[in-house]
Amino acid sequence: MEIIHVSAECYPVAKAGGLGDVVGALPKYQTELGHIAKVVMPMYRTKFLYNNQWETVHKGYTHLGNWWYHYTVIKEKTNKLGFDLYLVDINGLLDREKIYGYGDDTERFTAFQVAVVDWLSAWKHHPDIVHVHDHHTALIPFMLQHCYAYQHLAGIRTVLTIHNAQYQGWMGWDKSHYIPAWDSWKAGLLEWNKAINPLASGIKCAWKVTTVSPTYLAEMRQSAAGLEALLEYEKGKCSGILNGIDTTVWDPSTDIYFEHHYTPDTVEEGKQRNKELLCERFGLDPKKPLITFIGRLVGEKGADLLPQAIEDSFYYIGRKMNFLILGSGFPAIESRLLTMKGLSRGDYNVYIGYDEGLSHLIYAGADFIMMPSRVEPCGLNQLYALRYGTIPVVRNTGGLHDTVIDYGDKNGYGIRFNNATVGDMTHGIWRAVELYQQSEKRKDIRRRILQLDFSWEASVRSYLELYAS
Ligand code: ADP
Ligand code: GLC
Repeated sequence: MEIIHVSAECYPVAKAGGLGDVVGALPKYQTELGHIAKVVMPMYRTKFLYNNQWETVHKGYTHLGNWWYHYTVIKEKTNKLGFDLYLVDINGLLDREKIYGYGDDTERFTAFQVAVVDWLSAWKHHPDIVHVHDHHTALIPFMLQHCYAYQHLAGIRTVLTIHNAQYQGWMGWDKSHYIPAWDSWKAGLLEWNKAINPLASGIKCAWKVTTVSPTYLAEMRQSAAGLEALLEYEKGKCSGILNGIDTTVWDPSTDIYFEHHYTPDTVEEGKQRNKELLCERFGLDPKKPLITFIGRLVGEKGADLLPQAIEDSFYYIGRKMNFLILGSGFPAIESRLLTMKGLSRGDYNVYIGYDEGLSHLIYAGADFIMMPSRVEPCGLNQLYALRYGTIPVVRNTGGLHDTVIDYGDKNGYGIRFNNATVGDMTHGIWRAVELYQQSEKRKDIRRRILQLDFSWEASVRSYLELYAS
């Protein structure tokens, strides 16, 4: 099969979170199984662009409403990522450093999607599947079927993967002319709740819809930022396929981001050395358990609970542990976490920002990773943590429910709590400290989690079966 993934992110070209990791890995595994998988994404001005070689494969001219623009498609020359990578350049919209966060993101991603469809239309052959990811690319199934200029593409099968239903890309009807001339009888396929809702449109128009864990799929019918009824109605074409991890990028015995590599046989010494490095850099005590958080500092991730849970832990449990936080997000959470540095007695620190290398070192050096998420469609942090011998302390939701079993249960290896509250989280931290003190038990868990397999092998087959269907 020939599969074209269209996405706003793809590691290592441009990544803001798990979407980038998934789109950087899934096509590689599909290619390994003998399929042709390609990725098309915007040409942001990232390091990867300047450090690699490209050839121009297409130049086109199209329009976003009344604004006509030239676009260029370039292809990476050396198959560096293990699949064909195409970048779409639109001057004035995509030629920026960051992926998201601009006032004209609606225009940027709509123009990107129009260019992708226009380019597909100019191709002589058609792919078997166009696989779009999240709302930034979710108008494509509609465009392929209902824009007059692209009618000849209507037979291409489309798959939408929902990585996060909290973000839907809403836009007002005043922007409906951004979509190239379309059959206005089909307006209902763009709309949800009186606005154009790209994610809802993707759910309606894609041939198949997937999300990134079975539990999140079930939860979305109860809670999906307004899309519950639609997901209930369309449940026949929806399935939950758990994400995998790229076991070559994420391998503690070869990781390119730190020096002290380790294998299951050397995990205790290896992790200790990385922990000492981290503790030295952040002024922490390597004799105490190191409990961390990596991620976006937003309510969805339960990051607002961190400050109080940390303060309560120090107060009720005592200063028996270190905390290290890596992330960025809401200014109010960032500043509260920064202020707390003043209370540290060599047992708390925070790094505000995005740092890929530091995240790898933290997975390697930490004893525990906290994920108090309110919503977690899959979550990759816990999977990376497990691969690096770090015990996850997670809220029982979405993909966390599907991947972490409490160590008090049969064959368990993590710590799970039910509510996204300071109380539940502090209790989880207390259990982590208790577990750390029982060193034989902790070592046994470490040995077992290193044997768990969350690689893409199983999930990639589920996607292929879905395409075939
Ligand atoms: P989400 O995509 O919702 O943010 P995931 O758990 O799926 O959550 O994936 C998050 C990814 O982003 C992981 O690879 C994680 O290591 C990475 N990440 C998140 N925040 C940071 C940060 N501040 N610095 C480095 N990596 C980060
Ligand atoms: C989203 C979700 C996260 C998931 C990731 C990759 O960003 O929030 O849970 O792991 O996508 O699918």
